[in-house]
Amino acid sequence: MSILVLGASGQIGAYTVQDLIEFCGEKDIIASSRKMANVKQAMDDLKISGKLKLMELDATNTAKVLETIKKEKVESVINCAWYQTNLGVMDACLKGGATYTDLGGFFDTCLKQIDLHKKWKDAGINATVGLGSTPGMTNVAGAAGAKRLDSVENIDIVCAWGNTLPVKEAGWPGYSIRTVLDEFTQESVQWINGKYEKQPILGGETEVTMPDPIGKVKAYFIKHSEPATMGKYLKAKRVTFRIGFPASDMNTFLTLRGLGFADAKPLDPYNISPLDYLTRMYQKGVEAGRGAPPKEKFEYDMFRVDCTGTKDGMPRTVTYFIVTWNDPARGVSSARDTSVPPAIVAHWQHTKKIKDSGVFPAEATVDPEAFFKELGKRKILVDEQITSATKYY
Ligand SMILES: NC(=O)c1ccc[n+]([C@@H]2O[C@H](COP(=O)([O-])OP(=O)(O)OC[C@H]3O[C@@H](n4cnc5c(N)ncnc54)[C@H](OP(=O)(O)O)[C@@H]3O)[C@@H](O)[C@H]2O)c1
Repeated sequence: MSILVLGASGQIGAYTVQDLIEFCGEKDIIASSRKMANVKQAMDDLKISGKLKLMELDATNTAKVLETIKKEKVESVINCAWYQTNLGVMDACLKGGATYTDLGGFFDTCLKQIDLHKKWKDAGINATVGLGSTPGMTNVAGAAGAKRLDSVENIDIVCAWGNTLPVKEAGWPGYSIRTVLDEFTQESVQWINGKYEKQPILGGETEVTMPDPIGKVKAYFIKHSEPATMGKYLKAKRVTFRIGFPASDMNTFLTLRGLGFADAKPLDPYNISPLDYLTRMYQKGVEAGRGAPPKEKFEYDMFRVDCTGTKDGMPRTVTYFIVTWNDPARGVSSARDTSVPPAIVAHWQHTKKIKDSGVFPAEATVDPEAFFKELGKRKILVDEQITSATKYY
């Protein structure tokens, strides 16, 4: 009765496997990616090869994924491959009777996944989608904030990162370079006044205060799935998602976009697109970093989720700060805080703590307090601050 991880060679998937073994206590795990050599290397780097089954499995080959679910008696699937594979893998899970979770569907795919709710409800299986850091932890923080309010007005999410190095070279992309370039080339959709509203790429510039050492940072609207679901599920009038890029990273990503690295068409006379070439270079960097992680703490990932509304007829703001530093044994901060949520949720699906039938976003099925405590065990730190008002007349 196993858990199948797809994309286990990736920056996130490898640490998801590690968390399933070391924190969740899962014993029967299959780690897979399109290339056996890649997944084996990733598991060797994390010194966990001996404790699980390795498999070559392409997530786009839905029939093969289904065959694996049946043959290996897979009960829960975690899809850590690129989000374009989400719908096909869900189809295999539905047919094979396995629960499903993933790292997010980047707005459009996420909505298509949620549209499958009735089929999953009828089949009696749970899919909880969009479980990384953001989407993922931030959706759960929004749900926690909504629980502390009688009515929700706005939920504003900001993601930022950085490092304490004296030289501010361009940082390493903390998540798939393909998704970074999607974010820099596609208009975002935010939830404003109770409906979806398109915004220009990098629109909505706002200065936000994050925990030290970031302090004040300019943040921009980015296409993400949080506004796709949270407005509807948490009955908020506004849900926005912004990233506060460190200046050097923002310049690097703008330069890559300017040079045409987001282009997915093969480049004449070479048989590879600029996007695929860049992806391969990035994958090599991920492998090198995982094999020799830095010993000291020097880089961090941070989230701020402001939930405003009313409580007992008075205005109230509930703010969550989530902070993660890199860890010599558990990887760069963004891999740590993104890999853990899908492991916790798959473990809860597997042990029936999450068992609602249907397809849901994280804010609908994940118990916030229990989830935050699990994060705390992994030094992913969640702080809640409540600002309330009182009248003396
Ligand atoms: N929610 C969040 O907070 C969050 C944060 C970061 C990333 N993400 C999303 O998570 C996904 C993975 O991100 P990442 O940073 O781990 O990317 P990554 O380092 O590029 O890893 C993805 C891995 O998936 C494997 N893969 C790709 N296509 C596959 C397929 N068809 N079948 C099986 N495996 C496949 C690749 O390995 P092989 O070449 O060995 O197959 C690759 O190593 C992206 O879509 C990203 O947008 C979400």
